[in-house]
Amino acid sequence: MALYAMGDFHLSFQVDKSMDIFGSVWKHHEKKIQKKVNRLVKPEDTLVITGDHSWGRKLEECRLDLEFISNLPGRKILLRGNHDMFWDAKKTARLNEQFNPDLYFLQDNFYTYEDYALVGTKGYTFEGPFYYDAWGNLMGWDEEKEEHAKKLVDREMVRLRKSFEMAREAGYRKFIMFLHYPPTNILEKESPFTAIALEYGCERVVYSHCHGSSRFADSIRGEYQGINYDLVSGDYLDFKPVKLLP
Ligand SMILES: [Fe+2]
Ligand SMILES: [Fe+2]
Repeated sequence: MALYAMGDFHLSFQVDKSMDIFGSVWKHHEKKIQKKVNRLVKPEDTLVITGDHSWGRKLEECRLDLEFISNLPGRKILLRGNHDMFWDAKKTARLNEQFNPDLYFLQDNFYTYEDYALVGTKGYTFEGPFYYDAWGNLMGWDEEKEEHAKKLVDREMVRLRKSFEMAREAGYRKFIMFLHYPPTNILEKESPFTAIALEYGCERVVYSHCHGSSRFADSIRGEYQGINYDLVSGDYLDFKPVKLLP
């Protein structure tokens, strides 16, 4: 039995949105996902898929994408990404009813893996625009957008704390925290997300969303403050899931 994670499948079986323009790593990426996940993940394993599942804008346009995910081996737990328009956070219970037992949606709830609670939410972080001079030095950023981002971070923190508290009330003391957005942006060393991970004594924080080699180092990777941070965006992993627990 093992716990795996990977995100950002960006599937588009029903809408015309090829990822090929984003580089060779994305060429036939759905075939890579199928091949590598099937090779690695066993039926008794768990795979947490950290958001940006489908390009469809409503559930009807995502049916084949979600079916593709359902057909992958193991128990699939899905997190919301910024592109997942089909998923209204407030209607997560309905998705869980509709797709049970093929898919499990992580939002305002938690799942378990052995004695670990798997908690999470989409998260949010300010992504610019940042302004640079001709030499590439950071000169400033859009402060209005930064203010707006703080509100979205606050809202996501309420959702995340709810997930932690539900797990804690159920008696769980070991946590793995999943986010779609990176926990910090290029201006930050810490954030409300790194703080809550410390507060609850998380062992790992897992996130995705960062695409392309120029963005892979946007946030924390490896050990920081005693917590392991993993970037698991599909293109970063060349679509091979990361094993989090044996
Ligand atoms: Fe993405
Ligand atoms: Fe994303």
